[in-house]
Amino acid sequence: SPVVRRNATLSDTYSETVELADIDWDNLGFGFLPTDYMYVMRCPQGGNFSRGELQRFGNIELNPSAGVLNYGQGLFEGLKAYRKEDGNILLFRPEENASRMRLGAERMCMPSPTVEQFVDAIKATVLANKRWIPPAGKGSLYIRPLLMGSGAVLGLAPAPEYTFLIYVSPVGNYFKEGVAPINLIVEHELHRAAPGGTGGVKTIGNYAAVLKAQSAAKAKGYSDVLYLDCVHKRYLEEVSSCNIFVVKGNVISTPAIKGTILPGITRKSIIDTARSQGFQVEERLVTVDELLDADEVFCTGTAVVVSPVGSITYLGKRVAYADGGVGVVSQKLYSVLTRLQMGLTEDKMGWTVE
Ligand code: COI
Repeated sequence: SPVVRRNATLSDTYSETVELADIDWDNLGFGFLPTDYMYVMRCPQGGNFSRGELQRFGNIELNPSAGVLNYGQGLFEGLKAYRKEDGNILLFRPEENASRMRLGAERMCMPSPTVEQFVDAIKATVLANKRWIPPAGKGSLYIRPLLMGSGAVLGLAPAPEYTFLIYVSPVGNYFKEGVAPINLIVEHELHRAAPGGTGGVKTIGNYAAVLKAQSAAKAKGYSDVLYLDCVHKRYLEEVSSCNIFVVKGNVISTPAIKGTILPGITRKSIIDTARSQGFQVEERLVTVDELLDADEVFCTGTAVVVSPVGSITYLGKRVAYADGGVGVVSQKLYSVLTRLQMGLTEDKMGWTVE
């Protein structure tokens, strides 16, 4: 594709000779590790995104007046690449991330790469950093596309120039609990999103806004925070970094997408997977009472995959789920989804991209 231009000065180092980077592959968490290359594509004033290229990974230069630094005009995405036993590499639904970034860009008054540009750039970045993809079964390469207003603005307005950048980092489990159930606290005062706001898009500000409640929760020993709707303080929204599902019998319920909840790609994939496994899945308003009365609760997200919830604390009351929260439903869905993502089962859904 003409979108991906190899930087001539890098041609002799572009293909790293070693098959695997020399790191401790058995102890990956979800921390940043610098890799070899990043992808950068710019959209000049009045133009379109074009002439993207791989560059050596490193710091970037921004005008102090850049829109992203001053007014938070920025979006990010998250997806993963898995190495198969046979050496092939799989991406999971990258065109979904591309489309979601385009929708978010529209909300944030930003131009965005086309779906094709986005997916081509992801493939180029992953291949250039191939030695950082964990061996099969040891984790994945987390891919982080960014879209930002990089042009200078002083008065509040959309930036005149934009930068699309992709970097990657090898990762293991997101929560320090590993695959063990997480403990959530329901936040009653601070809110993540409001109707008409930007909760439904992956803008960087949504994540800065949850840090205060998340830090307070972690200081008290909780894994993370579950947010409620800001109007009634009664309906579930999402966890800081993932969507939430509640299981009761054969029914799995999750808050409907209505502008304040991030439309997770793992969320969507788990809904389809659960239906194909015979569960009844409902996307609707889900109350805190239902949460506390559930048989099982779990979270979904690219980073967290499918994380079982061991306990919920709401207004001082702690509810622990049966068997410590390691529910059979979340285990089943985790297994079906991750086997597909890792290429261990036939991909009847057509979700993986080699
Ligand atoms: C992801 O799951 O990929 C996300 O973007 C959430 C992030 C806070 C790690």
